[in-house]
Amino acid sequence: MDAISVIRTKRDRGRLSDAQIDWVIDAYTRGEVADEQMSALAMAILLNGMERREIARWTAAMIDSGERMDFSALPRPTADKHSTGGVGDKITLPLAPLVAACGAAVPQLSGRGLGHTGGTLDKLESIPGWRALLSNDEMMDVLRSVGAVICAAGDGLAPADKKLYALRDVTGTVEAIPLIASSIMSKKIAEGTGSLVLDVKVGSGAFMKNLEDARELASTMVGLGTDHGVRTVALLTDMSTPLGLTAGNALEVRESVEVLAGGGPADVVELTLALAREMLDAAGLPDADPAKALADGSAMDHWRRMIAAQGGDPDAPLPVAREQHVLRAETSGVLTELDAYAVGVAAWRLGAGRARKEDPVQAGAGVELHAKPGDRVTAGAPLLTLHTDTPERFDYALEALTGDAIGITGGTEGTAFAPTPL
Ligand code: URA
Repeated sequence: MDAISVIRTKRDRGRLSDAQIDWVIDAYTRGEVADEQMSALAMAILLNGMERREIARWTAAMIDSGERMDFSALPRPTADKHSTGGVGDKITLPLAPLVAACGAAVPQLSGRGLGHTGGTLDKLESIPGWRALLSNDEMMDVLRSVGAVICAAGDGLAPADKKLYALRDVTGTVEAIPLIASSIMSKKIAEGTGSLVLDVKVGSGAFMKNLEDARELASTMVGLGTDHGVRTVALLTDMSTPLGLTAGNALEVRESVEVLAGGGPADVVELTLALAREMLDAAGLPDADPAKALADGSAMDHWRRMIAAQGGDPDAPLPVAREQHVLRAETSGVLTELDAYAVGVAAWRLGAGRARKEDPVQAGAGVELHAKPGDRVTAGAPLLTLHTDTPERFDYALEALTGDAIGITGGTEGTAFAPTPL
């Protein structure tokens, strides 16, 4: 077998055979297929697609490139969720301890932000002392003692995906449905969760800009999970405007703690509860009541224990950026547009995200929203507060918020839609 014949098959719109897929994934992981050859293949897949059978084999080969975890010794059913990524999407933070408080075990392997979307691990690292890197034994201990753990995937889990995702990120090949579906599901299946809820984001701040593509991605992932014995369901949720009122690491931790304390923005609470109900259903705990666990403080209690078990101090003050800049409404009316992608890019430029994998992030940087689409605003009232330690970035961040990013008219409607089952 050789890389050029595999690339040619896909370039010429052919179907890759099982043998071609197994070989190319294994040879790429071992370094025998070069990055430039894999990037040519990834581009051919992005342009010409894959059949479901090819995607299934590609996913299985990525799972087989590394180890598989096993949580079957735990006394509780396991439930995990994965979001395809968005702006202000801090839901994992309140969700994992909430679902643990309701009786499931939540082994939440999470990632870092890249580009305009935030990463759960970057957010949690703004809590003094908190550690993302745990050994498999430490992860199991936290799961046993608390019921929820949020940590980085070990190097042994789907190593083919680690290499390929980094390559796709710098070759314009992230947005291919077969590659996104196989990337996400290979990690989730190798992780060994019994059930999985997928939060597939749709809108300007998401990979999938329209409902049709989001449905295709969601149904591909549900099929992959189901074929591997993982009870998998998907919700399609809005990402045309940021989730909640914050985008940025420590800002989002603060908002998550507000939700756990029984407050927080309505859209964050609504989505947290919707996903919790799906996870508990999928885990075989349909009678659990997540709204009660939020209200009676048991979700907050699990959060505090989860943070402390990973070295964090849940009572430590969160970092605050050194400088703030307030952006005000130019006219009075109804806010009809506050574009998720624009806010994500602004937060990224302020220092909340990274341009390259090895870049540091600023814990306090980001964007705070004072109004959401559908709200009435008056001329001169604050719309957004930008936070950064490096004020020379304000102008660059503000550039992202020009043009159609913010709209104020005499209309009455917001643009968000409610979470929708696949
Ligand atoms: N998240 C992943 O893990 N992989 C992708 O390809 C896209 C989002």
